[in-house]
Amino acid sequence: MSTPFVPASTAEIHRRWLYRRHPAGVVGPEHYELVEAPLSLELSDGEALVRMRYVSVDPYMRINQSLKPTYNELPHALDTVQTAGAVGQVVASKSAAFAPGDWVEGMMGWQTHARVHQGALRKLDPALAPVSTALGVLGMPGRTAWFGLTESGRPHAGEVVVVSGAAGAVGSLVAQFAKRHGCRVLGIAGGAAKCDWLTGTLGLDWALDYKAFESADALSAAIKQRTGGVDVYFDNVGGWITDAIIPIINRRARIVICGTISQYSGGLDVPELGPRFLHHMLYQRATIQGMLARDYLHRMDEMIRITGPWVQRGEIVFEETVVHGFDKLPATLNQLFTGDHRGKLLVEV
Ligand SMILES: NC(=O)c1ccc[n+]([C@@H]2O[C@H](COP(=O)([O-])OP(=O)(O)OC[C@H]3O[C@@H](n4cnc5c(N)ncnc54)[C@H](OP(=O)(O)O)[C@@H]3O)[C@@H](O)[C@H]2O)c1
Repeated sequence: MSTPFVPASTAEIHRRWLYRRHPAGVVGPEHYELVEAPLSLELSDGEALVRMRYVSVDPYMRINQSLKPTYNELPHALDTVQTAGAVGQVVASKSAAFAPGDWVEGMMGWQTHARVHQGALRKLDPALAPVSTALGVLGMPGRTAWFGLTESGRPHAGEVVVVSGAAGAVGSLVAQFAKRHGCRVLGIAGGAAKCDWLTGTLGLDWALDYKAFESADALSAAIKQRTGGVDVYFDNVGGWITDAIIPIINRRARIVICGTISQYSGGLDVPELGPRFLHHMLYQRATIQGMLARDYLHRMDEMIRITGPWVQRGEIVFEETVVHGFDKLPATLNQLFTGDHRGKLLVEV
């Protein structure tokens, strides 16, 4: 990273986005408030002061805002900084592990600066890849894609892998990792442009625009006609797209429940539907498994040892859609649900 290092100064303004109101449906700027204060340089032993460069927006933010218990017992607390992964540069330090100028990643939230204990920071190697990748291919989405596919999907060469949300941060990596396993891969995404990118740039065998189908049955028939049946379904969206796939799974198929983004804008707080398609699991002796990236945090080094060289050699497409401006964070979160991006969506501070 060639940007000249600028030490911390009390002349800087510390800006934070506070989560103020629970969104019942679509999330937007009205659920947040931007607050500003002079930057404090106070640190305790073992702490570092980080100035943010990239801040992440991720679908899980909407899960955490659900009023029902999810993987967290309690919803995201109101009037606190929006939780988020972020990448920044250490600008002051009372930690032996971090020096001013070091690039780091951590759950530092939607704020321009953070005072963080050394145990909550991961030091980045800017020579390996651009530091923004610590929020994408070499970060949480990469970890989700790699371990979700290899440990829950258990793909074998020649098998058919279907990925929904295939042009997004996780989906685009799952699709490419599956190709590297020798699988035949069908991606599902919204719009012809994303589908062209999936086949033309990522090298998938097939891509289907779910928005062009009027029913789950029609999508199901199109997938069946191309693939013959599905061995691994990596589910990022849930809802009717998943309904289209379960009836066409093959014997001993593996269904990986990674996310259900079609339900996040209000759908998690309403009464739940009962299981509708599970009889197909019986006929095909299939398995369905939820997976969470946090369960693989301790295996981050292992993932980076495997996928880091692919990234360095340019063998993995890791597109980033970078929105410029800290002010735009809440609006950018909403962009995850309108599908106006490819690859990892990030905000540059
Ligand atoms: N289990 C875990 O630990 C874990 C970790 C990270 C992410 N995830 C999950 O993985 C999924 C993808 O996350 P990501 O960070 O990679 O986001 P992303 O795919 O980069 O962005 C979300 C995409 O979802 C699609 N989408 C939004 N609403 C939809 C709807 N109603 N129906 C169908 N598609 C819709 C949009 O693409 P289109 O233009 O194609 O519609 C959008 O671009 C999410 O469900 C997320 O919760 C899980």
